[in-house]
Amino acid sequence: MGHSEEQYVIRGGKRLEGEVVIAGAKNAALGILAAAVMTDDKVTIENVPYVSDTRTLLKAIENIGATVEYKDKHTVVICGKGIRERQPVDDEYIRKIRASYYLIGALLGKHKYANVALPGGCDIGSRPIDLHIKGFEKLGAKTEIVAGGSIIAEATELHGAHIYLDTVSVGATINIMMAAALSPGKTTIENAAKEPHIVDVANFLNTMGANIKGAGTDVIRVRGVEKLHGAEYSIIPDQIEAGTFMAMTVATRGNVLIKNVIPKHLEAISSKLVEMGAHVIEYDDSVRVMADGALKSTQIKTLPYPGFPTDMQAQMSAILGLSDGTSIVTESIFENRFRYVADLTRMGAKIRVEGNSAIITGVKSYNGAVLRATDLRAGAALVIAALSANGVSTIEDIKYIKRGYEDFADKVTALGGMMKTVETEQEIQKAKLELASNF
Ligand code: UD1
Repeated sequence: MGHSEEQYVIRGGKRLEGEVVIAGAKNAALGILAAAVMTDDKVTIENVPYVSDTRTLLKAIENIGATVEYKDKHTVVICGKGIRERQPVDDEYIRKIRASYYLIGALLGKHKYANVALPGGCDIGSRPIDLHIKGFEKLGAKTEIVAGGSIIAEATELHGAHIYLDTVSVGATINIMMAAALSPGKTTIENAAKEPHIVDVANFLNTMGANIKGAGTDVIRVRGVEKLHGAEYSIIPDQIEAGTFMAMTVATRGNVLIKNVIPKHLEAISSKLVEMGAHVIEYDDSVRVMADGALKSTQIKTLPYPGFPTDMQAQMSAILGLSDGTSIVTESIFENRFRYVADLTRMGAKIRVEGNSAIITGVKSYNGAVLRATDLRAGAALVIAALSANGVSTIEDIKYIKRGYEDFADKVTALGGMMKTVETEQEIQKAKLELASNF
C-alpha cells in the first residue's frame, strides 16, 4: 500500500514529563466563529485552536463573503458584513465537519434565511439534527431539506418561543440560542445542555450585545435584541485536549503539568483518574498529573455535563485496558463509539463490547501495531495506547486527529514522548529507525 497520507509513527515506553499548554476549546470555537458573522462589525477572537475543524469553518465563512484575517496563530479577526444574503454555504470541506450546522442558527438569526450543506463529522453513530430544526420552527422559521443534501431555514418574522429539548443536545442548545439572540421577544430553552462551551458561546454573544441568561443551567432565557455589535473575546481552554494529556500522562506513568486549563471543567475526568490511583493536583489554571505503579480498574458512564464526557470515553478505555481488574465503560450519548476497540485488541487489550458497554479486563502492557484512527477521539486513544506500548506503532488516517488536536506530535515530543508525523513509506522507515535508536 503506498502511503501518501500523513501518519504518526510512535515508539512507546517513555514516561511523559514536563509541561504542556492546552489550546482553546475546539467545540466552543466552532460556535463562536459561526456566531461572529451575526454582526456587520469586526470581531476579534483570541485563543482559537489552530486545528483543521476551525480552519474549515473559517474557509466556509470566507466563501460566503465574510473577511477572515489571522492576526497571529490563535487570533482571528472576522467581519461578517460582506456576507451575501441567501448565499448557500457549501464547499467540499464544510460537509466534513459537524459544526457547519452552527451557520444555520447564525445566518437564520441574522438574515432570516440560511441555506447550509448538511453536516458530516465523525462517524460515531446516527447524529440527527431534528432538535435544531424543531427549535428553529418554534422561532418562526420554515425548514426544508433540498436536493443535494442541504437545509434551508427561512422566516418572514422570527419571534421568541418556549422550547423544550427532548434530549440534552449541545449542538441544538447553541444553535437555538444563536438564532434566538436576534429573534424579537422572549425565548426559553428548557432541558438545555450545560457544557462549558455553551456558557462560552453565550458569554460571547452577550459581549456582542445579546441578552442571554442561565447558560450553564438547564434553563436558558434569551431576550431577542435588534442587532449585535463588534467584540473582542478569548475562548476557554479545551477540556478534552486537557483530559487527553491527563490520560496520556497516566498511561506512561508520567508527571506532567497541564497548563491553561479550568480545573473545574476537568472534575469528572480528574476524579476517575484519582479512582484509578493517579494523583491530580489542581492549581488556579493548571493541573499536575502523576502516576506510578499499578492502576486500578473503575466504572465509567458517559453523560451530558457535568457527567463524564463522551469525548473522553475512548481515551479512558485505553488506560483502563492497562489497569488491574475489570472495568465497565458505558456509552450513553452516541451509538457507535467503540470502533477503536478492534485496534486496541490488536495491541493486546482485552475488551469485549456488549451493546453500549465495553467490558475491559486489564493487561500488563500493550504491543505496538499498525493502527488506523476511525474518528477524532478514537485516534487520540490510539496515540495514548501507542505511547505506552512496547515497540513501534503507526497510526493512519490522522486527518481525524488533526480536526481537534493542535500540534499534537510536537506537544507529545516536548514531553519526551517519541512521536513523529510522516508522509511516505520512506519517511516511515526512517522514523522507525530513528525512534528505535534513540531509545
Ligand atoms: C457535540 C460535540 C461533540 C460531543 C457532543 C456531546 C461539537 C461540534 N461536537 O456534538 O464533540 O461529543 O456534543 O458532548 O460541539 N440528538 C438528537 N437530535 C438532535 C441533536 C442531537 O437526537 O437534533 C442526540 C444525538 O444523537 C446524541 C445526543 O442527542 O445522542 C447528544 O448529541 P449533541 O449533544 O447534539 O452532540 P453534537 O452537538 O452533535
